[in-house]
Amino acid sequence: MTISDHGARHVAIIMDGNGRWAKKRLLPRVAGHKAGVEAVRTIVRAAGDLGLEAMTLYAFSSENWKRPEEEVSDLMGLMKRFILSDLDEFAANDVKLKVIGNWRALAPDVVALIDNALERTAGNKRTTLAVALNYGAQDELVRAASAAAAQGDITAEAIEANLDTADMPPLDLLIRTSGEVRLSNFLLWQSAYAELYFTDKLWPDFTPADLKAALDQFARRDRRYGGL
Ligand code: IPE
Ligand code: IPE
Ligand code: MG
Repeated sequence: MTISDHGARHVAIIMDGNGRWAKKRLLPRVAGHKAGVEAVRTIVRAAGDLGLEAMTLYAFSSENWKRPEEEVSDLMGLMKRFILSDLDEFAANDVKLKVIGNWRALAPDVVALIDNALERTAGNKRTTLAVALNYGAQDELVRAASAAAAQGDITAEAIEANLDTADMPPLDLLIRTSGEVRLSNFLLWQSAYAELYFTDKLWPDFTPADLKAALDQFARRDRRYGGL
């Protein structure tokens, strides 16, 4: 039995519950986001070990701008520090970074940092880590449909080819932590036939064993795609 016998190539995660994790400990929300970054580190390492080709993580949605300015700036600061501090580890573990969403609209220093990280990891092959930043699936679909229209006919294939995830394997499994049971504008097109997995665990508490449990359950699901 090999590590990828679960059959999943691409897993996406809505990393939710950082704020509640902090609240339970009477800590400020930013402490939850910091703990969330630690969980990201551990899960990215586990993704490669579990034989996944790609993992997409929802880090900041196009709706998260509604949060207080201080929290938005804390999140951007953590994002910058994560990219800077983990770039060497991506190189060591053969992780290729990808960013999806309208990230070019972020502050110039964040854009420069991302550009550099993309360039430095472009040749890596083992696992693709896609971080969804300023991402909203409706925005992605509008951009993809406009691009398809500019190229010719708006067909499903043309839209798919213009999605931010176009060069990634099809989405197999979508996980959401924290007990919320909704997609919150994440990968709406890509999840058409993805398996969904919801857990009550808050994101900072989510471990590689939890990821493994989700993949074990995925392996037992019967995907029919409308057939028999
Ligand atoms: C998820 O945790 C992280 C982001 C959305 C950036 P939340 O901050 O949404 O945590 P809760 O949902 O308030 O617990
Ligand atoms: C979704 O979580 C976005 C991220 C995890 C980055 P939210 O906490 O923003 O979603 P809602 O507001 O509960 O739907
Ligand atoms: Mg939340």
